[in-house]
This record gives sequence, structure tokens and C-alpha cells, in this order.
Amino acid sequence: MSILKWFSSTATIILVVVACSSFNGGEADQALIERICKQSQDYGFCMSTLGNDPRSGTADLRGLALISTSLSIIQIQDTLSRLPDIIKQSTDPLAIHRLGVCQTDYNGSLVNFQGTYKAISDNGYYVAIDFVRNGTNQVIDCHNIFRREGPIATSPIAGDDMNVFKFAELILLAIDDLLHRK
Ligand SMILES: *[C@@H]1O[C@H](CO)[C@@H](O)[C@H](O)[C@H]1NC(C)=O
Ligand SMILES: *[C@@H]1O[C@H](CO)[C@@H](O)[C@H](O)[C@H]1NC(C)=O
Repeated sequence: MSILKWFSSTATIILVVVACSSFNGGEADQALIERICKQSQDYGFCMSTLGNDPRSGTADLRGLALISTSLSIIQIQDTLSRLPDIIKQSTDPLAIHRLGVCQTDYNGSLVNFQGTYKAISDNGYYVAIDFVRNGTNQVIDCHNIFRREGPIATSPIAGDDMNVFKFAELILLAIDDLLHRK
């Protein structure tokens, strides 16, 4: 998964760079959204989610980080609300077991992205990055459980996992810009 590799390497780079930088504030305009989206792995996804949010047009970088976080929380809640039905429709005990792991993972991830929101609100950007990493790692665990403990299978919620990874990237890009913008 190239995006997974991207995430771990980028998270590392961001953490290193963040450690030597200071807060520079942000400004509101469409160019800001474009700048974030152009740096992201999936420009179309970024523009159709963050770029399409009615709050984004007037948001500064901190606002864009908060909006990206709220979108990831909505995504995770949506997955959590669909998981019981997906499990009910499964007949394969291994798939049911794996989806149960995902339920626990997504539960934990939700708490971490809620922590991200609070940390950004409190200007705690380093803590926010930590929460994003922990929340993303839980979804990576859910993604990878379909390659462990038995035959490799495609997760029925693989697309949901990818969306969380993409939102996590947007949050980190906005925080990175916040901390580096001159
Ligand atoms: C997830 O959390 C909800 C409550 O927030 C709980 O009812 C449910 O049992 C949890 N599921 C797992 C698998 O941890
Ligand atoms: C992230 O996870 C690590 C390891 O479990 C933990 O030590 C750390 O406190 C967590 N960070 C946050 C912000 O919860």
C-alpha cells in the first residue's frame, strides 16, 4: 500500500520538521485549499471533500485542519454505524472475526480523532499529530488484519480505511503548513 508507506515516511518527516519550527498563523482563501490539495496524494478527493465543504472558503489553516478532522470523524462514525450490518451479512467466521477487530480499531480511532480535534482547538499541534498517528495506526491495523491470521482477503471496508488515511493526510498537511508558513 503506497499510501501507507507514504503515511509513515511523511509522518516521520513532519515530526522532524515540526520539531524545529515555530507557529506562523494562517490566512483564509481559496488558494489555501488548492495548496493543501495539490500537496495531497489524491487531489480529486481533497477538492471534493475539504474543498467542497461550505466552511472551507472562509477557513484559515487551523480551520482547514479542524474541518479535515471533523470530516474524518464523520467518516469513522459512518463506518462504525455500518459495521454491525456488514458483520450480520457475513457468513465466514474468519471475516466476522476480522470485522470485530476492525470495530475495536475504529472505536479507538474515533477517540483519537476526537482528541485531534480538541488538540487543534487548543493549538496543541504536536499532540494533534500524535493523535492523528495513533488514530491512523488503528485503521492500518484493521486494514492489515485481512492479511494476517489466515488467507489474505479484501476487507469489505477497505475503501473506508483509505478515506481515513486520506483525511489523516489532509490534517497533517494543514498542520505542517500551519507550523511552517512564513
Ligand atoms: C465500540 O464502542 C461502543 C460504544 O461506544 C460499544 O458499544 C461497542 O461494544 C464497542 N465495540 C467494540 C468492538 O469495541
Ligand atoms: C499514542 O500512542 C502511544 C503508544 O500507545 C501513547 O504513548 C501516546 O500517549 C498516544 N498519544 C496520544 C496523544 O494519545
